[in-house]
Amino acid sequence: MLLTPKRSLVGLDIGTRSIKAVEFTEDKPGVPQVSGFVHRELTSGESLKDAVSQTIHAGKFKTRRVASAISGKSVTVRYITMPRMDDEDLKNLLPVEAGKYIPFEVSDSMLDAQKVETEKTDNKEMKVLLVAAKKSFVMEHIKLIEDAGLTSAFIDVDSFALGNSYELRNTQDGKTVPNDRVMALIDIGATKTSINIMLGTTSCFAREIYSAGNDFTEQLSKKLGLDNVKAEELKRDPGNRVAEIIESTGSLIEDLCQEIHLSFDLFENQYDKKVDNIGISGGGSLLSGIDETFERTFNVRPSRVDPLEGFSIAPNVQAQELRAKAAHLTIAAGLASRLVRG
Ligand SMILES: Nc1ncnc2c1ncn2[C@@H]1O[C@H](COP(=O)(O)OP(=O)(O)OP(=O)(O)O)[C@@H](O)[C@H]1O
Ligand SMILES: [Mg+2]
Repeated sequence: MLLTPKRSLVGLDIGTRSIKAVEFTEDKPGVPQVSGFVHRELTSGESLKDAVSQTIHAGKFKTRRVASAISGKSVTVRYITMPRMDDEDLKNLLPVEAGKYIPFEVSDSMLDAQKVETEKTDNKEMKVLLVAAKKSFVMEHIKLIEDAGLTSAFIDVDSFALGNSYELRNTQDGKTVPNDRVMALIDIGATKTSINIMLGTTSCFAREIYSAGNDFTEQLSKKLGLDNVKAEELKRDPGNRVAEIIESTGSLIEDLCQEIHLSFDLFENQYDKKVDNIGISGGGSLLSGIDETFERTFNVRPSRVDPLEGFSIAPNVQAQELRAKAAHLTIAAGLASRLVRG
């Protein structure tokens, strides 16, 4: 109808260091346009609720409907193998099956499951992605969203939003990803590094590693005898001290790469395919020297993810600033992609 307002959704990525928001508005059916974005660093002492409200206010968004994500130790993600069955049976069996894998009581959890279909899936068995989150943790998250005056339309997990972001930008305008293309998406934040290994556009492996930007700063501060604030400043604006930063943080990045390598090994053993593309994002990925360490470890030069490459941008949006913030917005864009994915 001519007068029906266009649908919009805000992808809201509430990190431990910064809040990121991307709003998509459905331009034509199935085609999202970027209608707003915000990247806002958290300041010490402010409540998360106020920070979320102010982020939304600053974005001048059209909608209060948001898709957000939970992550961390109260959320468990497992890719399990089960006998092939229909969705109804899977739903019924889920609590029993989940009990074997999750580190908290099934009765205190919210469960979700989804079949993972790849070429390798045979007829007798199927791979299932199992997600379990502590009920109290999810309720607390919803309360934060609602207290900030928003409506919670979808709740995802960071690493899946990373995968959804990749899928959306690679399927826009009829683009396709070869079924056998392997892409490891790695988002390095402040407290955690999220990994999602995609085969074509199917997420085959997701994990979080608790080493990221805060640890890089701490290491710099220790090695160079700086307080945390100075170390953070130097990390972001190294001037002529790049070599010192690389020297001080090198072993930490190597350890992180070894952890990531374990995930690659698990994927490669299960799927018999090599990880030959790596895309990195998140504020932590801006550390000097990180590309080189990745390249040395994996023999692949990581590419920088631009989650909104190729998207149409509304005239009110500052396109240049959007490009400059791209590294930070990958997960928020993946969350907002629910507008067209449902
Ligand atoms: N220019 C820069 N150079 C190096 N590091 C940077 C730069 N800008 C930001 N960072 C680091 O990026 C990290 C924050 O990244 P991001 O905003 O993606 O984290 P977050 O989403 O809030 O955290 P998390 O997902 O772990 O909760 C911080 O550790 C910060 O020091
Ligand atoms: Mg983050």
